[in-house]
Amino acid sequence: MKELEEKIKTEGNALSSTVLKVDGFINHQVDPVLMDKIGRTFAQYYKDRGITRILTIESSGIAPAVFTALHMGVPMVILKKQTSKTLMGDVYQTNITSFTKGTSYELTLSASYIDPDDKILIIDDFLANGEAASGASRLVHMGGAQVESVGILIEKSFQKGRKRLEDAGIEVRSLARISRLGRGIIEFTQADL
Ligand code: G4P
Repeated sequence: MKELEEKIKTEGNALSSTVLKVDGFINHQVDPVLMDKIGRTFAQYYKDRGITRILTIESSGIAPAVFTALHMGVPMVILKKQTSKTLMGDVYQTNITSFTKGTSYELTLSASYIDPDDKILIIDDFLANGEAASGASRLVHMGGAQVESVGILIEKSFQKGRKRLEDAGIEVRSLARISRLGRGIIEFTQADL
């Protein structure tokens, strides 16, 4: 997606060979016009795929997921990193280890918000090692439903996330694919959308 690549080129900041800072429009401040375009782009691409729900992982996946859900006319469900005291009834849980941040957490989905006949689109901001998306897929499968695809804003193609998901039979579609990062260097490879 040209607009996202342009935004990354002009406002993104490559901190190292592995980390891209995008606090100004995705991770801290959010650009709603860009998020709306992202939502429209995903909605257009996935319109004939029978998607019934969109899942995302809090917190930075929420903005693009909600715009995608709005344009597709389906509900959006936030997978929780902290189990809320108000989360009642049956829940599905799985452990996620973040290699980028060196932390781990329990990802939770209430059984109320997944049906066995759901076709799920998972949306997230970054794909690095694929831990979060793999965990989200496990929760979908625990609910007896099917992952139709994973839509990503920024894929770091030099990390193993895409291969890991594709090896598990999960389709990945990324709006921007970064082939190389370095201090002040951001190189792209052909994006999917
Ligand atoms: P993975 O799920 O693909 O394996 O990613 P990993 O565990 O390595 O990354 C964990 C967190 O770090 C995720 O955010 C992910 O979005 C973020 N992340 C990974 N690489 C980058 C990067 O190059 N730049 C930025 N800005 N973020 C990166 P999170 O902990 O879920 O946080 P958030 O959604 O609350 O922002």
